[in-house]
Amino acid sequence: MSQDGPNTGRGAVASVPPMRPASDFFRPLAVGAPQPLREVPVRPSRMIHFLDPGNAKMAAKVPGLIGTVDVLLGNLEDGVRAEHKPAARAGLVRIARTTDFGSATQLWARVNSLDSPWVLDDLTTLVAEAGDRLDVVMVPKVQGAEDIHYLDRLLAQLEARAGLTRPILVHAILETARGVANVEHIAGASPRMQGISLGPADLAADRRMKTTRVGGGHPGYLVRQDPPATPLGGRAQGAGVPGERAAFQQDLWHYTIARMVDACAMHGILPYYGPFGDIADVVACEDQFRNAFLLGCVGAWSLHPVQIDIARRVFSPSAADVAHARRVKAAMGDGTGAVMLDGRMEDDASLKQCMVILELAERLAATDPDLARLYAGEPADQEG
Ligand code: GLV
Ligand code: MG
Repeated sequence: MSQDGPNTGRGAVASVPPMRPASDFFRPLAVGAPQPLREVPVRPSRMIHFLDPGNAKMAAKVPGLIGTVDVLLGNLEDGVRAEHKPAARAGLVRIARTTDFGSATQLWARVNSLDSPWVLDDLTTLVAEAGDRLDVVMVPKVQGAEDIHYLDRLLAQLEARAGLTRPILVHAILETARGVANVEHIAGASPRMQGISLGPADLAADRRMKTTRVGGGHPGYLVRQDPPATPLGGRAQGAGVPGERAAFQQDLWHYTIARMVDACAMHGILPYYGPFGDIADVVACEDQFRNAFLLGCVGAWSLHPVQIDIARRVFSPSAADVAHARRVKAAMGDGTGAVMLDGRMEDDASLKQCMVILELAERLAATDPDLARLYAGEPADQEG
């Protein structure tokens, strides 16, 4: 490894993405495997709640989380000690087999990375023993479409052997520089692709960024106001005193999230913010989640119960946004032309923006009675 780290790009070759004829894209990859889905199911996934399934205290809390979290994820990867991996795997199978998840909560698993000594056991065990309960497998450190192709075939073989009738979907974590460079290929690599999450901790390390935080901003990553100008346009005294000029933190993750959102939107899959590690800083967590929501993400990870409500609040449109979208829709009639509402121009394009809000609100309200009441104009806890 050079001092600059392993990702210097030396040895990289320009490669053409592998071609699959359109007619083959939706064919099962093993005889007897379930038919791949043509569209990602649009069940709510505002918070992907992480738990260590080998931890008895955490596992005991599962029944209380059903119906409260959109996604419950059994984590087998980072955060679980090597000697506890088998217990975590067995615990996840037990939770999957003994829990009624109802219609509002999905079960996902984060398996170990594809180069690890544990992933083959993770996949073979989970598909054989709990494949009919598992909605999505989250795969860490995905580097390119080749990782998804490997998984795609392996899952098809395992599904066929287990006699599954519904394909298990795949969610990639974007946490290597190569993964970011290949994100469009990853998003479109298989009809199994459900979505992609930002993995800011591993990504920071892989890129050799100099932050030690898990997601969020950094006080050193900022833009500072210009020094006050003298009447002749020169530099005023005090130009070198930072405190006298306003400074604003910038978002370290803006580029990656925006790129991930475009890749996902282009392929009809779903983008997510990943973990926010400063559990105590609920304000910054909410800000970071909201940035991701505004940019197009549908959810984020919750690492602690306190982040569940933050994600629910942030990733559900506000009552005010829904009311505004309904007004625009009503005013726009057949959807063409332009109208003025409260001094603002609305037209075909702004109606489409409003439809994004309305469709999301309708989908969420279908499984969240509090939101249904809120959007119907009845009092509820939710605020925008
Ligand atoms: C998540 O896995 C991360 O590395 O941030
Ligand atoms: Mg990671």
